[in-house]
Amino acid sequence: MSEELLVCKGLFKTYEDGSFSSQVLKGVDLSVKQGELLAIVGSSGSGKSTLLHLLGALDKPSQGDVYYQGQNIHHWKDNKQAKWRNQQLGFIYQFHHLLSEFSALENVAMPLLIAGMSIKEATQKSQDMLHRVGLEARVNYRPAKLSGGERQRVAIARALINDPQLVLADEPTGNLDALSAESVYQLLRSLNAELGTAFVVVTHDLALANKLDRVELMVNGILQGKRDV
Ligand SMILES: Nc1ncnc2c1ncn2[C@@H]1O[C@H](COP(=O)(O)OP(=O)(O)OP(=O)(O)O)[C@@H](O)[C@H]1O
Ligand SMILES: [Mg+2]
Repeated sequence: MSEELLVCKGLFKTYEDGSFSSQVLKGVDLSVKQGELLAIVGSSGSGKSTLLHLLGALDKPSQGDVYYQGQNIHHWKDNKQAKWRNQQLGFIYQFHHLLSEFSALENVAMPLLIAGMSIKEATQKSQDMLHRVGLEARVNYRPAKLSGGERQRVAIARALINDPQLVLADEPTGNLDALSAESVYQLLRSLNAELGTAFVVVTHDLALANKLDRVELMVNGILQGKRDV
């Protein structure tokens, strides 16, 4: 398990807004091995979400490259990026982005249906995943009727449902109590053990960060390797 899954080199991101520009990432180098569990910590505004968006091809770097299994993801056409996101990548957004018109179950099943699975199979698999995140009693609720932590767990279930090779998770335990956060950690560990899934977890939860294989610290748009925090 030493092959590099995701590599980025010299990543810069500058946001331009009229005459105002703000350099957020200032040369990020990072390598994630297959099956690795990596935490990224750092103060608010240091650029963690910005980095995760570039790693998931949700936004483009101003300079630098991101490689997934040796291929430059920002050189792919939109439909190839979309297929990759659907089939290989799980993305847990900091602010969930659940579809408000759909139930928890439908939100979780969506990536499976997009990938072509039958409704019956997708429903069964999504129910199982919602059970694993402790939401078996909430499958038919729409997001507006769920608590913040429940929405977060639906978003986690949705990101993991397609058995991705890589999960990019932005504050997956941000709204959770210690017990729920521990069960999310156990879920990441079990998927990692079952499927060899690699995780890049952005978090302010130092208890979670220290349980992962490696911790990187983001300081002012630059990553600094750290053993623990
Ligand atoms: N679309 C944007 N346009 C302009 N500036 C942006 C944009 N998105 C983010 N920024 C700025 O980039 C900086 C880094 O934001 P980012 O969301 O990456 O921080 P973060 O490390 O994830 O913080 P937090 O821990 O609070 O989530 C912030 O100062 C933010 O204002
Ligand atoms: Mg953030």
